[in-house]
Amino acid sequence: MPTADVRIVDDAEDLAARVAREVALVLDSAVAQHGFASIVLAGGRTPHGVYEHIAATRRRDVAWDHVHFYWGDERHVPADDDRSNYRMACDALLDALPVRREHVHPMPTGVAPEQAAEEYERTLRAHFGTDWPTFDLVLLGVGADGHTASLFPGAAALGEFRRWVVATTAPVEPHERLTLTVPALTHGRSVFVLATGAAKADAVRCGLGSTSDPRCPVSFMATTSGRLVWWLDGAAAAHLSNQDRGEAQ
Ligand code: 6PG
Repeated sequence: MPTADVRIVDDAEDLAARVAREVALVLDSAVAQHGFASIVLAGGRTPHGVYEHIAATRRRDVAWDHVHFYWGDERHVPADDDRSNYRMACDALLDALPVRREHVHPMPTGVAPEQAAEEYERTLRAHFGTDWPTFDLVLLGVGADGHTASLFPGAAALGEFRRWVVATTAPVEPHERLTLTVPALTHGRSVFVLATGAAKADAVRCGLGSTSDPRCPVSFMATTSGRLVWWLDGAAAAHLSNQDRGEAQ
């Protein structure tokens, strides 16, 4: 299992700019290699800042009409609801880029959660075949409690290693959620975990300092089979040991 690559930058603005650049490099390389690219988007303020930077500064760096967009998790709310991760990504990113609408694959929240999970898994299996989804890039935020996507501490979903998508619940509103499972997330060719602010310092420490701890779901990302990069600002990295910092750039 490769050690995590830890990138520590000054602040949230610097992180958004650096990650936006790296996202464009990964997607551009993927399109050059196999004619298209696939990215998993996350919800939350930290990913939102990255999306705004991509929309503002990376429009010319990627053949966006060759990129497929998926979601790592979704709140089970209507697509036009202010709390929707799909709506947030459209507002901050997709509406500003020349993407092809048929390449945008939101989680279906118009049906019951369990049915939505099954439908989304069918969508992914149709695109990736039957092994595991090998997304070119998976973006993930981290909650102060150590959750990532909608995998929350102690969730049964953390023990799901056969299915790719499951319905689950969150301790915070909106409670009903859809989420990719650990294996679906960790078979990505690159996985970026994004965290800024002092409130995330403990979650980052446990996420980098342990593996597959149900009390800290982001620690399951240590099982990533491809490249795992933690993008942190100084405040979120404040509780890391020198060893955990790895090859901090
Ligand atoms: C969601 C996200 C969630 C988010 C983290 C970090 O649906 O809310 O997928 O996992 O990425 O909670 O969010 P912040 O960056 O806003 O702290």
